Amino acid sequence: MIISHITLKNWRNFKEIDVSLNDRIFVVGPNACGKSNFLDVFRFLRDLATPGGGLQRAIRERGGVSKIRCLSACQNPQIEIAVSLSEEPHSAIQWKYAIGIKQEARGNRQPYLSYEKVARSDGKVLLSRPDQEDQKDKLRLTQTHLEQISANHAFRDIAKLFESVLYLQLVPQLLRHPDSFIGVNVSEDPFGKNFLERVAKTPEKTRHSRLHKIQEALGIAVPQFKKLELIKDDLGIPHLQARYEHWRPGGGFQHEDQFSDGTLRLIGLLWSLLETDSLLLLEEPELSLNAGIVKKIPSLMYRLQQRKKRQLIISTHSEALLSDAGIGGEEVLLLTPEQEGTKVQAVGSVKDLRDLLEGGLTIAEAVLPRTIPPKIERFQQLSLLK
Ligand SMILES: Nc1ncnc2c1ncn2[C@@H]1O[C@H](COP(=O)(O)OP(=O)(O)O)[C@@H](O)[C@H]1O
Ligand SMILES: [Mg+2]
Repeated sequence: MIISHITLKNWRNFKEIDVSLNDRIFVVGPNACGKSNFLDVFRFLRDLATPGGGLQRAIRERGGVSKIRCLSACQNPQIEIAVSLSEEPHSAIQWKYAIGIKQEARGNRQPYLSYEKVARSDGKVLLSRPDQEDQKDKLRLTQTHLEQISANHAFRDIAKLFESVLYLQLVPQLLRHPDSFIGVNVSEDPFGKNFLERVAKTPEKTRHSRLHKIQEALGIAVPQFKKLELIKDDLGIPHLQARYEHWRPGGGFQHEDQFSDGTLRLIGLLWSLLETDSLLLLEEPELSLNAGIVKKIPSLMYRLQQRKKRQLIISTHSEALLSDAGIGGEEVLLLTPEQEGTKVQAVGSVKDLRDLLEGGLTIAEAVLPRTIPPKIERFQQLSLLK
């Protein structure tokens, strides 16, 4: 199942957006236009549905309602999120889930639900809060039904989908030296701190097969890279090991602390693609990779994905990545900052962009010029005049 549609009101720098989502979505736009904020909505839904987490924690971890709520919102605004879930893109909607969030006007200014609604494909409304119980006890509105196993029985599918959302922004240094990282232990491990542990915990047969697939896929990008496996050192600590074929006969073995940043990020990314079939959020997968390899990311993903039907939402700046001719206009969301908030459009729904794509341009050629802030253009013109 995928999230096939989303509407947001007053979510960070998005005052109001309403877009359909494909099973693969590239989120594209200039710096600080809200790409990470857009990805964060899906993490927020995950946090809501996580037992022991829920509404209060999800908001607290983001610094409170005032940090999330759009700064250019009108008076007394609520934050609203509504999603539709479908088996696949363009197929019938199976579920709709919607919430509105407000904050108490005084006292300890606790966040609460102004509404929570669940509807099924046949139009039957399974939940519409505030209900009578909520009227009797207002404190109930400080929790969603999504976060309560005893209350979400009738729509467990929604809770399960949200709960399994995975977010990745791999930091090679953390993959290599997890113990040197002091700081809050984030439960979702977005930066790959526990990556090697996760690989080590995977049953041997599955692990072997995944590492083999990754090694084959990586071979396209890094041809010298051979035989990727997991080994344990004398202390029992897991390490990745690969053989590099080079001029020395037999080649040399290298461990993860010697892999390049890009290779490590790619291994982490490909492993995550193989690991689950849940919604995967990828933050700028192009970082620390050279353009030649970035160009191959879409086809690497496609190869590894073939048998899995899962949704991928990828934020990117990368010209190389978006020059893949296989990326269609309906797979790209263009974020454009405007006075009141960022506008979000599916590239395929913008007539002149669609014309450019039909004329044979790639997404990189058609769309990226629109993500360059005007000031940079002026700067370039000025430097040409010198
Ligand atoms: N509550 C909010 N209301 C309006 N704008 C916000 C809010 N929270 C964050 N922003 C803005 O969002 C921008 C950062 O968005 P971000 O998702 O990090 O951008 P990107 O990932 O595209 O670089 C900043 O300009 C920040 O001011
Ligand atoms: Mg960002």
